Amino acid sequence: MQNFDYMTPTRLIFGENAIAKLHDVMAGLGRRVLLTYGGGSIKKIGLYDRVKELLNDFEITELPGIQPNPKYDPSVLEGVRLCKENNIDAILSVGGGSVLDCSKAIAAGAKYDGDPWDLITYKVKAKAALPIVDILTLAATGSEYDCGGVISRTDTNDKIGYVDPLLFPVASFLDPRYTFTVSRKQTAAGCADAMNHTIEQYFCEDSTLLNDGFCESMLRSLMVNTRKCLENPEDYTARAEMMLCCTYGCNGILSLGSSDSGWPCHGIEHALSAYYDITHGEGLAIITPRWMQHILNEHTLDRFVKYGINVFGIDASLPEQEIARKAIDATYAFFESIGIPMHLREVGIGEERLDEMVHHIAVNEGLENAYVPLTEKDIKEILVASL
Ligand code: NZQ
Ligand code: ZN
Repeated sequence: MQNFDYMTPTRLIFGENAIAKLHDVMAGLGRRVLLTYGGGSIKKIGLYDRVKELLNDFEITELPGIQPNPKYDPSVLEGVRLCKENNIDAILSVGGGSVLDCSKAIAAGAKYDGDPWDLITYKVKAKAALPIVDILTLAATGSEYDCGGVISRTDTNDKIGYVDPLLFPVASFLDPRYTFTVSRKQTAAGCADAMNHTIEQYFCEDSTLLNDGFCESMLRSLMVNTRKCLENPEDYTARAEMMLCCTYGCNGILSLGSSDSGWPCHGIEHALSAYYDITHGEGLAIITPRWMQHILNEHTLDRFVKYGINVFGIDASLPEQEIARKAIDATYAFFESIGIPMHLREVGIGEERLDEMVHHIAVNEGLENAYVPLTEKDIKEILVASL
């Protein structure tokens, strides 16, 4: 087992009407709040009005319109400007992972005098950040329980994961009822994202019985509960369990003591959504089975056999190669069964810029150090198989 130094300081306030505690939590952080949100879903579900009502004695400045795959320009830059101009004390982020990720970059940028891109690219280490509180409305990324954010820059086709312990939310409000209106597409994509977060931590060296069990149970729960959410979007219990699974996905708790896998599917997907602005979870669902097929070899066979038997219930008496192949097929079939388009062409990605993306990934994502190292040629083969 590897050594580790671990902490997740975020307070989780989970369940029906969790935001009754919002005022108390915000009051501890100061009166001037930047309220960040996306394209309007929080208004449709009545959450915007509820927040304004609960915080009616606060000075609220708003940053609306944060897009999926949040953009450095204008959203991060605009948020930083608003924080500085209004002397903001804390950020309240209401929405999905994109709103929260954008808010994390704003939180650091607001306490920095130079170009916030310096921080996102680690040219400069942030010394401080504004406190962030979030009300999550979409189960997927785990951003509510981690200290990372992913920011896109359309002028350079960069989509960069920015991680700093200063960026853990102070508190995350998780009321599953706010996810009842999440569309079928985003529910399925959220499931694929959280499943892939788990898979990225399961396929690694130094796995332990403890982590394997945790990951296998996450994957089974995500599949069962996502199906229930799709059948009945207002199934509170299913939305709740899905939400909690997603929350565990990204803060490293599933891989304590294991070696870092290098998160290869994420390395590849981030380029797809940077170049084509596709939905992150859909990109991952397309890549994952092709990556699995590509890395299946004598060394990785054991992992696939365990995954196949414990996650999909494949007959343990079959030959190992057959179990592994069935496990990969079952992964693909599950994503397809929840309505995810399973070819890059279906999400608008063809061969035109493939070589450019492959090169971008090979240069920027460090996948030569992944669980199974990936060269530029490997990345191309995985993407061609995904077309
Ligand atoms: O913009 P609004 O109107 O709010 O609509 C959003 C958006 O169109 C909508 N939505 C959110 N809550 C809703 C809702 N619609 C109806 N009812 C609700 N309750 O859903 C759409 C997608 O939202 P978005 O925030 O983009 O989705 P998600 O939470 O999947 O976030 C994706 C982003 O997170 C990054 C991804 O790369 C992508 O940029 N990631 C962040 C991670 C992290 N911080 O740890 C890890 C992940 O691996 C991931 O890379
Ligand atoms: Zn992800």
